[in-house]
Amino acid sequence: MLVDSFGRTIDYIRISLTERCNFRCMYCMPNTPMDIGSESDDVPLDSVLNFIKIAIKQGVKKIRITGGEPLLRSQIVPFIAKIYELNPNIDIALTTNAFLLAPLAKDLKQAGLKRINISLDSLKPEKIVLISKRDGLNKILQGIESAVKEGFTIKLNMVPLLGINDDEIVDILEYGINLGVGVRFIEFMENTHAKDSTKGLRANEILHKIKAKYEVDLLEKDFFGPATLFKLPTKDCIFGIIAPHNDDFCKTCNRIRLSSEGKLIPCLYHENAVDIKEHMLRGNEKEILKNLKLCVEKKPEKNDWDNNEVSTRAFYKTGG
Ligand code: 5AD
Ligand code: SF4
Repeated sequence: MLVDSFGRTIDYIRISLTERCNFRCMYCMPNTPMDIGSESDDVPLDSVLNFIKIAIKQGVKKIRITGGEPLLRSQIVPFIAKIYELNPNIDIALTTNAFLLAPLAKDLKQAGLKRINISLDSLKPEKIVLISKRDGLNKILQGIESAVKEGFTIKLNMVPLLGINDDEIVDILEYGINLGVGVRFIEFMENTHAKDSTKGLRANEILHKIKAKYEVDLLEKDFFGPATLFKLPTKDCIFGIIAPHNDDFCKTCNRIRLSSEGKLIPCLYHENAVDIKEHMLRGNEKEILKNLKLCVEKKPEKNDWDNNEVSTRAFYKTGG
Protein backbone atom coordinates (compact mmCIF):
# COMPACT_ATOMS: atom_id res chain seq x y z
CA MET A 1 0.00 0.00 0.00
CA LEU A 2 1.18 3.55 -0.73
CA VAL A 3 0.81 5.79 2.32
CA ASP A 4 2.28 9.30 2.36
CA SER A 5 4.01 11.11 5.23
CA PHE A 6 0.67 12.55 6.39
CA GLY A 7 -1.16 9.22 6.59
CA ARG A 8 -3.07 9.56 3.33
CA THR A 9 -3.41 6.34 1.33
CA ILE A 10 -2.62 6.94 -2.33
CA ASP A 11 -4.82 4.60 -4.36
CA TYR A 12 -5.77 6.82 -7.31
CA ILE A 13 -3.53 7.65 -10.26
CA ARG A 14 -4.29 10.04 -13.09
CA ILE A 15 -2.32 9.42 -16.25
CA SER A 16 -1.97 11.90 -19.13
CA LEU A 17 -1.35 9.88 -22.30
CA THR A 18 -0.54 12.82 -24.57
CA GLU A 19 -0.36 16.59 -24.49
CA ARG A 20 -1.80 16.68 -28.02
CA CYS A 21 -5.41 17.71 -28.46
CA ASN A 22 -7.86 18.30 -31.31
CA PHE A 23 -9.38 21.27 -29.41
CA ARG A 24 -7.84 24.57 -28.31
CA CYS A 25 -9.99 25.53 -25.34
CA MET A 26 -9.57 29.11 -24.23
CA TYR A 27 -8.98 28.05 -20.61
CA CYS A 28 -6.37 25.48 -21.56
CA MET A 29 -4.08 26.04 -24.59
CA PRO A 30 -5.66 28.48 -27.10
CA ASN A 31 -2.32 29.71 -28.44
CA THR A 32 -0.72 26.36 -29.13
CA PRO A 33 -0.53 25.55 -32.88
CA MET A 34 -3.03 22.88 -33.97
CA ASP A 35 -0.38 20.61 -35.43
CA ILE A 36 1.89 19.97 -32.43
CA GLY A 37 3.68 16.64 -32.55
CA SER A 38 2.48 13.24 -33.59
CA GLU A 39 1.76 10.01 -31.81
CA SER A 40 5.38 8.93 -32.20
CA ASP A 41 6.31 11.74 -29.76
CA ASP A 42 3.97 10.36 -27.10
CA VAL A 43 5.16 7.97 -24.45
CA PRO A 44 4.63 4.38 -25.73
CA LEU A 45 1.59 2.77 -24.13
CA ASP A 46 3.46 -0.43 -23.29
CA SER A 47 5.86 1.57 -21.16
CA VAL A 48 2.94 3.24 -19.38
CA LEU A 49 1.67 -0.29 -18.69
CA ASN A 50 5.02 -1.09 -17.07
CA PHE A 51 4.24 1.65 -14.59
CA ILE A 52 0.58 0.70 -14.14
CA LYS A 53 1.49 -2.91 -13.35
CA ILE A 54 3.62 -1.77 -10.44
CA ALA A 55 1.12 0.83 -9.25
CA ILE A 56 -1.60 -1.84 -9.11
CA LYS A 57 0.69 -4.16 -7.14
CA GLN A 58 1.10 -1.29 -4.69
CA GLY A 59 -2.64 -1.12 -4.11
CA VAL A 60 -3.80 1.48 -6.63
CA LYS A 61 -7.56 0.98 -7.17
CA LYS A 62 -8.54 3.75 -9.56
CA ILE A 63 -6.86 4.91 -12.76
CA ARG A 64 -8.07 7.92 -14.75
CA ILE A 65 -6.78 8.35 -18.29
CA THR A 66 -6.48 12.00 -19.36
CA GLY A 67 -4.57 14.21 -21.79
CA GLY A 68 -4.56 16.47 -23.84
CA GLU A 69 -7.09 14.30 -25.60
CA PRO A 70 -6.51 10.62 -24.77
CA LEU A 71 -8.68 9.35 -27.64
CA LEU A 72 -5.98 10.62 -30.03
CA ARG A 73 -3.95 7.56 -28.97
CA SER A 74 -4.74 5.03 -31.71
CA GLN A 75 -4.27 2.02 -29.39
CA ILE A 76 -6.42 3.34 -26.57
CA VAL A 77 -8.86 0.39 -26.69
CA PRO A 78 -6.24 -2.40 -26.38
CA PHE A 79 -4.47 -0.27 -23.75
CA ILE A 80 -7.60 -0.14 -21.59
CA ALA A 81 -8.14 -3.86 -22.17
CA LYS A 82 -4.62 -4.56 -20.89
CA ILE A 83 -5.24 -2.59 -17.70
CA TYR A 84 -8.45 -4.59 -17.22
CA GLU A 85 -6.51 -7.83 -17.74
CA LEU A 86 -4.03 -6.83 -15.04
CA ASN A 87 -6.91 -6.56 -12.56
CA PRO A 88 -10.60 -6.44 -13.53
CA ASN A 89 -11.48 -4.68 -10.26
CA ILE A 90 -9.59 -1.51 -11.12
CA ASP A 91 -11.92 1.43 -11.55
CA ILE A 92 -10.81 2.60 -15.00
CA ALA A 93 -11.98 6.10 -15.97
CA LEU A 94 -11.39 8.46 -18.90
CA THR A 95 -11.60 12.24 -19.33
CA THR A 96 -12.32 13.29 -22.92
CA ASN A 97 -13.73 16.12 -25.02
CA ALA A 98 -15.87 13.41 -26.73
CA PHE A 99 -15.09 14.57 -30.28
CA LEU A 100 -13.84 11.07 -31.19
CA LEU A 101 -15.94 9.14 -28.69
CA ALA A 102 -19.05 7.96 -30.59
CA PRO A 103 -17.36 5.32 -32.80
CA LEU A 104 -15.21 4.09 -29.89
CA ALA A 105 -17.76 3.94 -27.07
CA LYS A 106 -18.79 0.32 -27.57
CA ASP A 107 -15.22 -1.00 -27.83
CA LEU A 108 -14.12 1.02 -24.80
CA LYS A 109 -16.95 -0.50 -22.79
CA GLN A 110 -16.00 -4.00 -23.88
CA ALA A 111 -12.36 -3.30 -23.02
CA GLY A 112 -13.34 -2.61 -19.40
CA LEU A 113 -13.64 1.17 -19.15
CA LYS A 114 -16.16 2.08 -16.43
CA ARG A 115 -16.48 5.86 -16.24
CA ILE A 116 -16.21 8.80 -18.59
CA ASN A 117 -15.97 12.50 -17.75
CA ILE A 118 -16.85 14.65 -20.75
CA SER A 119 -16.17 18.36 -21.20
CA LEU A 120 -19.33 20.15 -22.32
CA ASP A 121 -19.07 23.93 -22.18
CA SER A 122 -21.99 24.90 -24.40
CA LEU A 123 -24.99 23.56 -26.29
CA LYS A 124 -24.65 26.24 -28.98
CA PRO A 125 -22.50 25.29 -31.98
CA GLU A 126 -21.01 28.78 -32.39
CA LYS A 127 -20.04 28.92 -28.72
CA ILE A 128 -18.23 25.58 -28.96
CA VAL A 129 -16.27 27.08 -31.89
CA LEU A 130 -15.52 30.19 -29.83
CA ILE A 131 -14.39 28.23 -26.77
CA SER A 132 -12.54 25.31 -28.36
CA LYS A 133 -11.72 26.52 -31.92
CA ARG A 134 -13.47 23.39 -33.28
CA ASP A 135 -16.86 23.06 -34.90
CA GLY A 136 -17.49 20.09 -32.67
CA LEU A 137 -20.90 20.26 -31.01
CA ASN A 138 -22.58 17.54 -33.09
CA LYS A 139 -19.75 15.09 -32.55
CA ILE A 140 -19.60 15.90 -28.83
CA LEU A 141 -23.33 15.27 -28.42
CA GLN A 142 -23.12 12.05 -30.44
CA GLY A 143 -20.24 10.99 -28.20
CA ILE A 144 -22.26 11.69 -25.05
CA GLU A 145 -25.30 9.84 -26.39
CA SER A 146 -23.19 6.80 -27.39
CA ALA A 147 -21.62 6.72 -23.94
CA VAL A 148 -25.07 6.85 -22.32
CA LYS A 149 -26.24 4.01 -24.57
CA GLU A 150 -23.29 1.86 -23.54
CA GLY A 151 -24.19 2.34 -19.87
CA PHE A 152 -21.05 4.17 -18.71
CA THR A 153 -21.10 6.19 -15.50
CA ILE A 154 -20.83 9.69 -16.96
CA LYS A 155 -20.12 13.16 -15.65
CA LEU A 156 -20.29 16.30 -17.75
CA ASN A 157 -17.75 19.02 -16.92
CA MET A 158 -18.53 22.66 -17.60
CA VAL A 159 -16.16 25.58 -16.97
CA PRO A 160 -18.45 28.66 -16.80
CA LEU A 161 -16.76 31.70 -18.33
CA LEU A 162 -17.92 35.27 -17.93
CA GLY A 163 -19.72 36.63 -21.01
CA ILE A 164 -19.02 33.43 -22.95
CA ASN A 165 -21.15 30.53 -21.68
CA ASP A 166 -22.40 31.75 -18.28
CA ASP A 167 -25.91 32.08 -19.74
CA GLU A 168 -25.99 28.30 -20.29
CA ILE A 169 -25.32 27.01 -16.78
CA VAL A 170 -28.97 26.02 -16.23
CA ASP A 171 -29.28 24.66 -19.81
CA ILE A 172 -26.34 22.33 -19.33
CA LEU A 173 -27.64 21.22 -15.94
CA GLU A 174 -31.03 20.45 -17.50
CA TYR A 175 -29.39 18.66 -20.43
CA GLY A 176 -27.62 16.43 -17.88
CA ILE A 177 -30.82 15.87 -15.88
CA ASN A 178 -32.72 14.84 -19.02
CA LEU A 179 -30.02 12.36 -20.00
CA GLY A 180 -29.70 11.07 -16.44
CA VAL A 181 -26.01 12.00 -16.16
CA GLY A 182 -24.22 14.09 -13.52
CA VAL A 183 -22.99 17.63 -14.13
CA ARG A 184 -20.03 19.31 -12.45
CA PHE A 185 -19.25 22.99 -12.75
CA ILE A 186 -15.57 23.78 -12.44
CA GLU A 187 -14.17 27.19 -11.53
CA PHE A 188 -11.72 28.41 -14.16
CA MET A 189 -8.20 28.09 -12.80
CA GLU A 190 -6.10 30.98 -14.02
CA ASN A 191 -2.98 29.82 -15.81
CA THR A 192 -0.40 31.35 -18.13
CA HIS A 193 -1.42 29.14 -21.09
CA ALA A 194 -5.07 30.29 -21.10
CA LYS A 195 -6.43 33.17 -23.18
CA ASP A 196 -5.56 36.47 -21.50
CA SER A 197 -9.05 37.91 -21.20
CA THR A 198 -10.63 34.72 -19.80
CA LYS A 199 -12.57 35.22 -16.58
CA GLY A 200 -14.32 32.40 -14.80
CA LEU A 201 -17.33 32.43 -12.51
CA ARG A 202 -16.83 31.57 -8.86
CA ALA A 203 -18.89 28.90 -7.10
CA ASN A 204 -21.30 31.41 -5.50
CA GLU A 205 -21.95 33.04 -8.88
CA ILE A 206 -22.63 29.65 -10.48
CA LEU A 207 -25.01 28.73 -7.65
CA HIS A 208 -26.77 32.09 -7.90
CA LYS A 209 -27.70 31.36 -11.54
CA ILE A 210 -29.08 27.94 -10.66
CA LYS A 211 -30.98 29.27 -7.62
CA ALA A 212 -32.69 31.83 -9.86
CA LYS A 213 -34.63 28.89 -11.34
CA TYR A 214 -34.45 26.03 -8.83
CA GLU A 215 -34.49 25.40 -5.13
CA VAL A 216 -31.02 24.08 -4.23
CA ASP A 217 -29.98 22.10 -1.11
CA LEU A 218 -26.38 21.77 -0.03
CA LEU A 219 -25.61 18.08 0.34
CA GLU A 220 -22.07 17.39 1.42
CA LYS A 221 -18.50 17.33 0.28
CA ASP A 222 -18.03 14.44 -2.13
CA PHE A 223 -16.01 11.96 -0.11
CA PHE A 224 -14.38 10.56 -3.24
CA GLY A 225 -13.43 13.77 -4.99
CA PRO A 226 -12.95 17.50 -4.87
CA ALA A 227 -16.54 18.53 -5.66
CA THR A 228 -19.12 19.96 -3.27
CA LEU A 229 -22.46 18.35 -4.01
CA PHE A 230 -25.87 19.99 -4.23
CA LYS A 231 -29.35 18.63 -4.74
CA LEU A 232 -32.33 19.93 -6.69
CA PRO A 233 -35.17 18.48 -4.57
CA THR A 234 -37.78 19.11 -7.26
CA LYS A 235 -35.79 17.19 -9.86
CA ASP A 236 -34.27 14.51 -7.64
CA CYS A 237 -30.90 15.35 -9.13
CA ILE A 238 -27.42 15.95 -7.76
CA PHE A 239 -24.80 18.25 -9.25
CA GLY A 240 -21.33 19.28 -8.15
CA ILE A 241 -19.20 22.40 -8.04
CA ILE A 242 -15.42 22.23 -7.94
CA ALA A 243 -14.12 25.42 -6.38
CA PRO A 244 -10.35 25.35 -6.12
CA HIS A 245 -10.41 29.03 -5.13
CA ASN A 246 -12.17 28.33 -1.82
CA ASP A 247 -12.06 24.65 -1.05
CA ASP A 248 -9.30 22.78 0.65
CA PHE A 249 -9.22 19.28 -0.76
CA CYS A 250 -5.70 18.49 0.36
CA LYS A 251 -6.71 16.70 3.57
CA THR A 252 -8.43 13.89 1.70
CA CYS A 253 -6.21 13.89 -1.40
CA ASN A 254 -5.61 10.30 -2.47
CA ARG A 255 -4.01 10.86 -5.86
CA ILE A 256 -0.80 11.35 -7.75
CA ARG A 257 -0.36 11.98 -11.49
CA LEU A 258 1.78 10.76 -14.33
CA SER A 259 2.30 13.55 -16.88
CA SER A 260 2.49 13.11 -20.64
CA GLU A 261 6.24 13.68 -20.27
CA GLY A 262 6.64 10.69 -17.98
CA LYS A 263 6.93 12.64 -14.75
CA LEU A 264 5.28 11.50 -11.54
CA ILE A 265 3.64 14.51 -9.92
CA PRO A 266 2.83 14.25 -6.19
CA CYS A 267 0.82 17.49 -6.08
CA LEU A 268 -0.30 19.82 -8.84
CA TYR A 269 0.97 23.03 -7.35
CA HIS A 270 4.33 21.83 -6.20
CA GLU A 271 7.63 21.73 -8.05
CA ASN A 272 8.84 18.29 -7.13
CA ALA A 273 8.02 15.91 -9.96
CA VAL A 274 9.95 12.66 -10.33
CA ASP A 275 11.02 11.72 -13.88
CA ILE A 276 10.38 8.00 -14.57
CA LYS A 277 10.26 8.09 -18.38
CA GLU A 278 13.51 6.21 -18.96
CA HIS A 279 12.61 3.59 -16.35
CA MET A 280 9.19 3.05 -17.96
CA LEU A 281 10.75 2.74 -21.41
CA ARG A 282 13.22 0.16 -20.17
CA GLY A 283 10.66 -1.63 -18.00
CA ASN A 284 12.99 -1.25 -15.03
CA GLU A 285 10.57 -2.39 -12.32
CA LYS A 286 12.94 -1.79 -9.44
CA GLU A 287 13.54 1.85 -10.39
CA ILE A 288 9.86 2.48 -11.16
CA LEU A 289 8.88 1.16 -7.72
CA LYS A 290 11.61 3.17 -5.99
CA ASN A 291 10.51 6.38 -7.72
CA LEU A 292 6.82 5.71 -7.12
CA LYS A 293 7.53 5.41 -3.41
CA LEU A 294 9.72 8.52 -3.55
CA CYS A 295 6.91 10.48 -5.20
CA VAL A 296 4.41 9.41 -2.53
CA GLU A 297 6.94 10.32 0.16
CA LYS A 298 7.36 13.77 -1.40
CA LYS A 299 3.66 14.52 -1.43
CA PRO A 300 3.25 17.77 0.48
CA GLU A 301 0.60 18.22 3.17
CA LYS A 302 -1.00 21.10 1.28
CA ASN A 303 -0.59 22.59 -2.17
CA ASP A 304 1.48 25.74 -2.68
CA TRP A 305 -1.08 27.46 -4.86
CA ASP A 306 -1.73 31.02 -3.84
CA ASN A 307 -5.25 31.81 -5.01
CA ASN A 308 -4.30 35.16 -6.41
CA GLU A 309 -1.51 33.74 -8.44
CA VAL A 310 -1.77 32.81 -12.10
CA SER A 311 -0.37 29.30 -12.27
CA THR A 312 2.17 28.20 -14.88
CA ARG A 313 0.69 24.71 -14.81
CA ALA A 314 -0.11 23.36 -18.29
CA PHE A 315 -3.40 21.48 -17.89
CA TYR A 316 -2.82 19.68 -21.19
CA LYS A 317 0.35 18.07 -19.84
CA THR A 318 -0.84 17.17 -16.37
CA GLY A 319 -4.46 16.36 -17.20
CA GLY A 320 -7.51 18.44 -16.20
N1 5AD B 1 -9.63 25.62 -15.29
C1 5AD B 1 -10.54 24.72 -14.89
N2 5AD B 1 -10.72 23.52 -15.47
C2 5AD B 1 -9.92 23.21 -16.49
N3 5AD B 1 -9.83 22.11 -17.26
C3 5AD B 1 -8.86 22.27 -18.16
N4 5AD B 1 -8.28 23.49 -18.01
C4 5AD B 1 -8.94 24.10 -16.97
C5 5AD B 1 -8.80 25.36 -16.31
N5 5AD B 1 -7.90 26.26 -16.68
C6 5AD B 1 -10.71 20.97 -17.06
C7 5AD B 1 -12.03 21.13 -17.79
C8 5AD B 1 -12.00 20.12 -18.86
C9 5AD B 1 -11.08 19.09 -18.28
C10 5AD B 1 -10.41 18.26 -19.31
O1 5AD B 1 -10.11 19.82 -17.58
O2 5AD B 1 -13.05 20.75 -16.92
O3 5AD B 1 -13.29 19.59 -19.04
FE1 SF4 C 1 -8.04 19.84 -25.22
FE2 SF4 C 1 -9.13 19.37 -22.88
FE3 SF4 C 1 -7.35 21.34 -23.14
FE4 SF4 C 1 -9.77 21.58 -24.23
S1 SF4 C 1 -9.33 21.41 -22.03
S2 SF4 C 1 -7.80 22.04 -25.24
S3 SF4 C 1 -10.25 19.52 -24.83
S4 SF4 C 1 -6.93 19.21 -23.37
